[in-house]
Amino acid sequence: MRLSCLLPFLFTPLLFGQSHIEYSAAKKIWLLHTESSAYAVGVNPRGELENLYWGGPLWRQDDVPAATGGRELSSFDPPQSVINEEFEGWGGTRYLEPAVKITRADGGRDLVLHYASHTIQGDDLKIVLKDLKDDLFVTLNYHVYAAEGIIRKTALIENKTRQAISVESLQSGAWYMPHGEGYRLSYVTGRWAAESQLTREPIHTGTKILENRKGHTSHNFNPWFAVDEGSASEENGRVWFGALGWSGNWRIAVEQTPYAQVRVTGGLNTFDFAAPLKPGESLESPPFYGGFSAEGFGGMSRRMHRFELTDILPHGLEARLRPVLYNSWEATTFAVDEPGQRALAEKAAKLGVELFVMDDGWFGKRNNDHAGLGDWTVNPQKFPNGLEPLANYVKSLGMDFGLWVEPEMVNPDSDLYRAHPDWAMHSGDRPRSELRNQLVLNLARGDVREYIFGVLDKLATQYPIRYFKWDMNRPFAEPGWENVAEPKELWLQYVKNVYEIIDRLRAKHPNLEIESCSGGGGRIDLGILRRVEEVWTSDNTEAFDRLGIQYGFSQMNAPKIMSAWVTDVPNMNDRSTPLKYRFLVAMQGALGVGANLNKWTPADDKLATDMIAAYKRIRATVQEGNLYRLLSPQSGELTANQYVSQDGKQAVLFAFLHSQQYRQTPPPIRLAGLDAKAIYRVQVLGLLGTQQFSGAYLMQNGVSVRLAGDYDSTALILERL
Ligand code: GLA
Repeated sequence: MRLSCLLPFLFTPLLFGQSHIEYSAAKKIWLLHTESSAYAVGVNPRGELENLYWGGPLWRQDDVPAATGGRELSSFDPPQSVINEEFEGWGGTRYLEPAVKITRADGGRDLVLHYASHTIQGDDLKIVLKDLKDDLFVTLNYHVYAAEGIIRKTALIENKTRQAISVESLQSGAWYMPHGEGYRLSYVTGRWAAESQLTREPIHTGTKILENRKGHTSHNFNPWFAVDEGSASEENGRVWFGALGWSGNWRIAVEQTPYAQVRVTGGLNTFDFAAPLKPGESLESPPFYGGFSAEGFGGMSRRMHRFELTDILPHGLEARLRPVLYNSWEATTFAVDEPGQRALAEKAAKLGVELFVMDDGWFGKRNNDHAGLGDWTVNPQKFPNGLEPLANYVKSLGMDFGLWVEPEMVNPDSDLYRAHPDWAMHSGDRPRSELRNQLVLNLARGDVREYIFGVLDKLATQYPIRYFKWDMNRPFAEPGWENVAEPKELWLQYVKNVYEIIDRLRAKHPNLEIESCSGGGGRIDLGILRRVEEVWTSDNTEAFDRLGIQYGFSQMNAPKIMSAWVTDVPNMNDRSTPLKYRFLVAMQGALGVGANLNKWTPADDKLATDMIAAYKRIRATVQEGNLYRLLSPQSGELTANQYVSQDGKQAVLFAFLHSQQYRQTPPPIRLAGLDAKAIYRVQVLGLLGTQQFSGAYLMQNGVSVRLAGDYDSTALILERL
């Protein structure tokens, strides 16, 4: 970390003891400090809460002006259009994206929120807002992750009136950029097998919606945004960013008002949304995390990675490094059985695999994707003696045992569906839309939730299962819910119940680890990541495609959670990349092998064994270090990524040539994040010799890599002397 980043942080504890939140009663402002950012809100003379600042660190509270409330520019441009209201209820003269919108039982909808009270406890700030007339309260909860540079916002609406209300929109909050134009938005978009495609576009006046209406997080958009001043690069420029922690329908509205103000409002999707609140009831938004980087997109990613590792993932920094995994899916598809899995397990163990995961096909009448989902009992033809013999054999080989499940789904051809057709989502007696021959269980129902918890708990109790690969292979359709007051609540309750099941399972089976998969990367967000160790990045395991997917993925998410397998070629397309290239691509995340090991030659086995051993030497650096994306796969013929360990003692460079023309020698790759004054011993992975260079030379001149032809690749390991 550079000293300049540290300086403001050093001041803050001196200024106000244990808390990173300052309050000025005279000016009615709160100033939140992190190591890399500051955030200020204040109460204006009308009692409205205004955002006053979000950006790089500040150290002088006196600099922040009190909230003024603005003024009426014309009868068409009320003050609320030009001030930055921190959390606006839909009411009064408000026309921008509201943070909360309600309808009362009597039809009244006006909701105008004014400051009521606040409390500061350590790094938590609660600001309570109240409707100007009714006992409708919104508590804004802020948490400051000072060292990580992140602020978390949630909003809680409470109905303390005597009539019911229906909440039609509840957002987690709004983020404001400094007043002005010329900003640019970055986000990822995609589809099945092509997730996380990084997109950047200018922000113009109007509203751009990033959202999902499919029930899970979705492959199409991922719930985060980054905004820069139009010219930020990987390591330079100011970037404001945020990410939602919600695995259901979410929405992020990026709005540039006609008054040249960019604001980003995000939370629960308002589409088909309604949450009734009886007197005494409350509803909380998902968390929205925000941060600021003065070191471009690379600085943004490194902050988010550190934040995920420290504060989001289960067990935080205590969590073990991800083991090298083998998964049977691409080798066998549904044709799993005990002898076949034993044979694969033996081969995997010899390569150095540490976690053996049996994928789809082990249960019910699951011989293809037409039947079996819902019947979570072991298929007796494939496993006549149950799963114990295989699980114990895997353990005897020194590996942990993992199992694929898709608990939220049912095939109409299953005993579960025949017994409980009403458990599948449906809309009366209208046709039920199948995708991959399956329907989604209405997990919002308490009985379905208990059934699924019971199934998973039984599996985890009966067998020595260390790891569930939890899959979810289609979006919702016909989201009806009979005999409830508000069927639209299904969207919300479903996600809450998924979370509850995982939380209960993990509490009961403390050693259990979970991978979040949804046909690849359909469920990756900071909500599910509080509950799982890793995610399945994409069903597309083709190595060159993966470079692009991993590039987009790494913008917000840490390499540690990025499950990446080496598989056979050709795969997904006609490209046949060398095995070494496939390994080096996958070694940039949580390495796994998903190939048919029965088909590997002795030379393949040897290469794989060496690569897995090398990975174990560098995995702490890759999984928990600092990532520098030196050359993007989106431009040029060369991709290069560098990882620097937390203690700075090791760095690893991965470089890939996509195509080559005219036998060009690639220019030296300039490294980053090293100690200029230190000497590094540099070794090409797989070769014996070493060379020594100073950090200064490696960062100023760069290192030359030998890459000869198409899909050639290399890795350098640097050890600080
Ligand atoms: C999904 C997953 C795959 C595999 C199959 C099994 O597509 O993403 O990895 O588990 O389901 O049916």
